[in-house]
Amino acid sequence: MILSPSLLSSDFLHLKRDINMINKSTADWIHLDVMDGTFVPNISFGLPIVQAVATCTQKPLDVHLMIVQPEKYLDAFAQAGAKIITIHYEACTHLHRTIQQIHHLKCQAGVAINPHTPVNMLVDILPFADLVCVMAVNPGFGGQKFIPQIHSKVKQLHTLRKTLNKSLLIAVDGGVNIANSPDLLLSGADILIVGHAIFHTSHIVETIQHFKNLKKSI
Ligand code: DX5
Ligand code: ZN
Repeated sequence: MILSPSLLSSDFLHLKRDINMINKSTADWIHLDVMDGTFVPNISFGLPIVQAVATCTQKPLDVHLMIVQPEKYLDAFAQAGAKIITIHYEACTHLHRTIQQIHHLKCQAGVAINPHTPVNMLVDILPFADLVCVMAVNPGFGGQKFIPQIHSKVKQLHTLRKTLNKSLLIAVDGGVNIANSPDLLLSGADILIVGHAIFHTSHIVETIQHFKNLKKSI
């Protein structure tokens, strides 16, 4: 299981301290939520923060672009240090081309789907993607309530990948916590993206370990 703590819920006034905490932990990736105020009703942070984070960690940077026309900025995010770049199905007119661009930059390509987008819409793109990120909240904010119907989407993807792309990874993002994670892993999720449930605890490193231990206990 890959655990990707989402920095959106970290303490921005002590960003380096929180990143050092992730560095010390068994977390696998660092998730960075980039929002443009157009694709989602919120603005978070952009290139300078990704660049700054890259200077103080060895963990792969997992950049989630919640922006329109992401193809314009792929090069810049790869330069800034992104190793995994996830774009939204709903934001890409030429999704196949955009995935090719990401691969050309030597990054892994993820496709995220909003809660209203059926998994079936991905059938023709699954062979080309490295991961699918199933949004379990409407993107734009941390700390939202998990939408339980998402479980069936993870199961559908798990079935589809058997024939379409055996190495496809399934990520779940939004409202993920210790209580709903075991079922997500059982449904087929490989990557858990967690903000609130990691950073809003008093022991970040221990909480991360707690998540990592879940896989062994199910
Ligand atoms: C939501 C973001 C998520 C968010 C997850 O738009 O894509 O990555 O930070 O945070 P929690 O776990 O608090 O829902
Ligand atoms: Zn995200």
